[in-house]
Amino acid sequence: MSRISLNAFTMTTPTHQSPGLWRHPENRAADYNTLEYWTDLARLLERGTFDAVFLADVLGIYDVYRNSSAPALADGDQVPLNDPFLQISAMAAVTKNLGFAVTSALTYEQPYLLARRFSSLDHLTRGRIGWNVVTSYLESAARNLGLSRQLDHDTRYDLAEEFMEVVYKLWEGSWEDGAVVRDAERGVFTDPALVHPIDHRGEHYTVPGIHLSEPSIQRTPAIFQAGASPRGRAFGARHAEGIFLNSIAPEITRKATDATRDAFEEAGRPRNAARFYALVTAVVADSDAAAEKLFTEYQSYSSREGALAFYGGWSGLDLSQYASDEELAYLDTNAARSALSIFTTADPSRSWTPDSIARYLGIGGIGPVLVGSPETVADEIERWVDVAGLDGINLAYAITPGSYEQFIDLVVPELRKRGRVWDDYQGSTLREYVAGPGQTKVADTHPAAAYRGAYAGRPSAADIDASLTPHAVLGR
Ligand SMILES: Cc1cc2nc3c(=O)[nH]c(=O)nc-3n(C[C@H](O)[C@H](O)[C@H](O)COP(=O)(O)O)c2cc1C
Repeated sequence: MSRISLNAFTMTTPTHQSPGLWRHPENRAADYNTLEYWTDLARLLERGTFDAVFLADVLGIYDVYRNSSAPALADGDQVPLNDPFLQISAMAAVTKNLGFAVTSALTYEQPYLLARRFSSLDHLTRGRIGWNVVTSYLESAARNLGLSRQLDHDTRYDLAEEFMEVVYKLWEGSWEDGAVVRDAERGVFTDPALVHPIDHRGEHYTVPGIHLSEPSIQRTPAIFQAGASPRGRAFGARHAEGIFLNSIAPEITRKATDATRDAFEEAGRPRNAARFYALVTAVVADSDAAAEKLFTEYQSYSSREGALAFYGGWSGLDLSQYASDEELAYLDTNAARSALSIFTTADPSRSWTPDSIARYLGIGGIGPVLVGSPETVADEIERWVDVAGLDGINLAYAITPGSYEQFIDLVVPELRKRGRVWDDYQGSTLREYVAGPGQTKVADTHPAAAYRGAYAGRPSAADIDASLTPHAVLGR
């Protein structure tokens, strides 16, 4: 019986996955722009021995539905939205173990800059940072970031492959172990001979120089991934150490986890190269009846317009163009193809209409809502994990911190009693929670490991600018 990893799924915005519920009187989600909101959440999640908080992010707005940004703005659906990197240091300062997996769309970043941002956070969190690598799906992001339209779905993944190569070179290769000597007596902070320019000249990126940050505890942050299209899966099979899935039924998710484990092997990695987490929302109370009552109460706050605005952004499909009871068919869009296939081809026995999608997405996004007593919810989590071949869950909230409090006070003790949740953290870095105690650096089979020490003996900063190198001081 394997351990079930618990993660919290949230976003720096008033409405993440449950449209309309920011209005619930006990929901603090609208305080997302205060530090206390984040530090309180961090303490709470660490009390529940959660592996990590997952911070989602997008760089545009959900304006596909009704061809307008108005429904999302009126509802607070992932807008207003702050930069998710900035609260992490504060959350790290009030915790010792909780990990942080932050989403960043590489499509609109430069590897040289993003690598430094992650190294900085790996230092400040003492090895607790992870990167949820996404390629983005919103046209509205592309339009505001210098493109007339989004790059094609598969081109985004081509870009991603080269981006990863560059950051791995920076994180793993540029600075050798021992480069930072901090030798006050000799007046040498860093030995230039052990710092190497990566000399990357590729199709999309040119980075001739050295990484700006010194090596951090994990070097490469723990790599998470969430794209589930064939290209997304191939990318995850190469790079991911944690894979995050949308699911509507565990039997269907099983196909995805099995296929991805096969793909790990094809990529030269073990079948357990990454942990799989499914998006889940839980509504828990002392009894099943009390939980059902609470769920009904939450549903009364749910917003149909908001749910359809979310669906538009995820799938690229404007459901206002369909009759509310019209059945949907799959088409290739340029958005998140996995979000579209889940409501069309994933389960041939089930058909979906705008009405049923809106109801389903009303609480918890594209994931199940588990409603019941602590025993019922623990049973359901075990069933999901065991049937789907998962290693854990990513717990979204109906209300926050209420949903997390219910879960931590009621379900975590039950799962612990069953031996499925650890009593305390084992290890202190995020990679250790994903890959096992002692595994702080990427595994040897991970593509980043190919750059470990790869530049040793190659040109160094000492060769490049000999006039600035303190050879005399170093005695060379
Ligand atoms: C569960 C899940 C969560 C995701 N979270 C984000 C996110 O926070 N930000 C984002 O830009 N993309 C997010 N994505 C989108 C994917 O990472 C990916 O860019 C998108 O799904 C397109 O790839 P695909 O067609 O391979 O699925 C998420 C996808 C899934 C399945």
